[in-house]
Amino acid sequence: MGPKGYAVIAFLALCAGAANAQTIDPTLGGPGDAAHGQTLFKQRCATCHQPDKGGKNGIGPALYGAFGRTAGQAVGFTYSPGLKASGITWTPDKLNQWIQKPASLSPGAKMVLPPVNMPQDRADIIAYLKTESDAKAQSAADKPKISSMKKKAKKAES
Ligand code: HEC
Repeated sequence: MGPKGYAVIAFLALCAGAANAQTIDPTLGGPGDAAHGQTLFKQRCATCHQPDKGGKNGIGPALYGAFGRTAGQAVGFTYSPGLKASGITWTPDKLNQWIQKPASLSPGAKMVLPPVNMPQDRADIIAYLKTESDAKAQSAADKPKISSMKKKAKKAES
């Protein structure tokens, strides 16, 4: 195959990525399987991240409590300036995008990973991350909308 062939493949891959990124949100409407998410996390994230309470920063920041929190808050970790300043809240929706293509969410993001391509795998990993946080009241967290999460959290408080 000549260079043109490769260019076409690269282009198609980009398109597939873009199409994927637009169709992912509905896939998170269903509940993820946290147990399977834990297995996936060990395979795909654990080289860089410690998920448990009291975990330390490594190549990536410690992730306990990242679910539902503002990005860039792990103490002592040097984030990319863009992510640190992004003000992103780690909703399922944002995590969904992040573990597919970090730079699409925060240009200059310094997390490099093979994209998690299967929607169910993403939902499972996100369900697992939720268990590695104190966000227990957020039963709506499997839904992509932060607004509904906030409402639930309010209800749980009152
Ligand atoms: C090769 C190392 C590496 C792998 C693999 C990796 N990450 Fe990361 N991750 C990072 C780095 C580095 C950052 C900081 C990014 C930045 O500052 O731009 C990060 C940031 C994050 C954040 C933001 C945390 C915060 O405090 O704002 C989340 C959430 C996250 N990663 C989840 C995951 C998940 C889930 C996986 C597996 C699917 C994964 N990461 C795989 C290196 C990695």
